[in-house]
Order: sequence, then structure tokens, then C-alpha cells
Amino acid sequence: MAGRQGQFRADRAAGDQAIRAFPDIVLSARSNRAFLARAVRFLAGEAGIRQFLDVGTGIPTADNTHEVAQSVAPKSWVVYADNDPIVLAHARALLASGPEGATKYIDADLRDPQVILDAAARLLDFGRPVAVMLMAILQHISDEDYPYTIVATLMGAMPPGSYLALSHPAKDIDAESMAKMADSLNQMMAEKVTFRTRPAVGRFFEGLELVEPGMVQASRWRPASDAEAASPAALWAGVARKK
Ligand SMILES: C[S@@+](CC[C@H](N)C(=O)[O-])C[C@H]1O[C@@H](n2cnc3c(N)ncnc32)[C@H](O)[C@@H]1O
Repeated sequence: MAGRQGQFRADRAAGDQAIRAFPDIVLSARSNRAFLARAVRFLAGEAGIRQFLDVGTGIPTADNTHEVAQSVAPKSWVVYADNDPIVLAHARALLASGPEGATKYIDADLRDPQVILDAAARLLDFGRPVAVMLMAILQHISDEDYPYTIVATLMGAMPPGSYLALSHPAKDIDAESMAKMADSLNQMMAEKVTFRTRPAVGRFFEGLELVEPGMVQASRWRPASDAEAASPAALWAGVARKK
């Protein structure tokens, strides 16, 4: 336990240092969550999706995926996966499904996508479309860990009509501050982060059909207001359909 608390303290210190390197990180994280909510509303609404696989869930907060999806379509089924013991400790909040839907939590690592697929298949029907959500997680998968193969493996298991919704911290938006932030995080944390350029993030969507407005800065993906569109967001984001 002492080790875990030590890790938590180190993460807090790294977080504080990241805020000093890039004060807009807090607004950027908020823009990312707002994108997540808009994407899920689109998926459960216009796209008619009823099954979600949200990998890299994070600690529960306002507008968790199942809450947004079930507010639009109460029969939505949501599988969450994360490898952080702190997220696991909060999993109960993620499992509070509405009565018509269902949720499940998998304690698993994205670097082993088949484990996630096998566990998710116990709740989801891979014969029907699924929205795979990779929100602000792929920066934790370095190029040596084959992030493109991982995404292709997940999407390869999904039937046509499925979607990929993804956001990714950008190396080429606010480039100087983002480089400082990556450096400060990588100095302090055992798990390194890799911020990626627009073309590198675009590669995750290869073979899929991006819905309008394509891959854009997270705050510019179907914003609900001018204020939302103008909110700082150093992330690329998009939603794409598997043909
Ligand atoms: C920046 S948070 C994003 C949380 C949420 N998706 C959001 O957009 O607000 C990244 C999450 O990914 C998880 N994560 C990082 N690397 C992972 C891995 N290899 N496998 C599974 N989860 C991972 C972390 O534990 C953390 O909860």
C-alpha cells in the first residue's frame, strides 16, 4: 500500500509540474471530457450505437460514458477497461448502470488488446456494431509498443458499422508548451508519454471513414457553443465508422 501511495504522490507531483509547464492543461482536459460527451451523444443518438468499449476510462467524473449513452439510449451496454489500480478502486461508480442497460469493468492493459476483447465479448455482442473509445490513452502507448497494431486489432474484431472515437494529446498544437509538459512528465513518471502530430494521430483512423468534421482540435468537434469551440484543447480528436 505504501508503494501505491508513493506512486500516487509521484503522480500528483508530476501533475502539478505539468500544470506549471502548461497551465492550459486543466482547460484542455475539460475540453477532452466535453468532446467525449459530445462523441458519445452522437454515437448513441445519430449513429444508433448501443454497445461501447471505453478503454482508458480514467477515474469516474461527471458525464461518464454509460451516463451519457444511457441518457440518450437507456439500453446502452458499456464495457470499461483500465490498468490503473486507482481506477479499479473506483469501478463501482462505473458499474451503476441504469436498469435497462448494463456496464462491466475490466482491469486490463491496452498493450494486450486480445485480453480486453475476450473479456468484453462476455458482455458485448461483436455481431452488432460497437463504439470503441480511446480517449486520451494512446499517448501512454509508445511507438515500440505498436499502438497502430493495437488499434487495428481492436477495430478488426468489430463488425461493419462500428465506430472508433479517439482523442490524443497533440505534439503540434501549442508545440513549445506541450514539449515542456511531455519532458516534465517523462522525467517524473515511470510510464512515459508520447504526444503525436496530426498525421501520426490520423494514422489511427486508417481504413475507417471519419464523420464530419473529420479529425480536428477536440474543442472544434461539433461544439455546442462558440465558447466551447474556443476553449483551449491541445488534442486531436475524431470519430470514424468502419465500412
Ligand atoms: C488521461 S486519462 C484519460 C481518461 C479518460 N479516457 C478521459 O478521456 O478523460 C488516461 C487513462 O488511461 C489509462 N491507461 C494508461 N495506459 C494504459 C494501458 N496501457 N492500458 C489501460 N489503461 C491505460 C490510465 O490509467 C488513465 O485512466
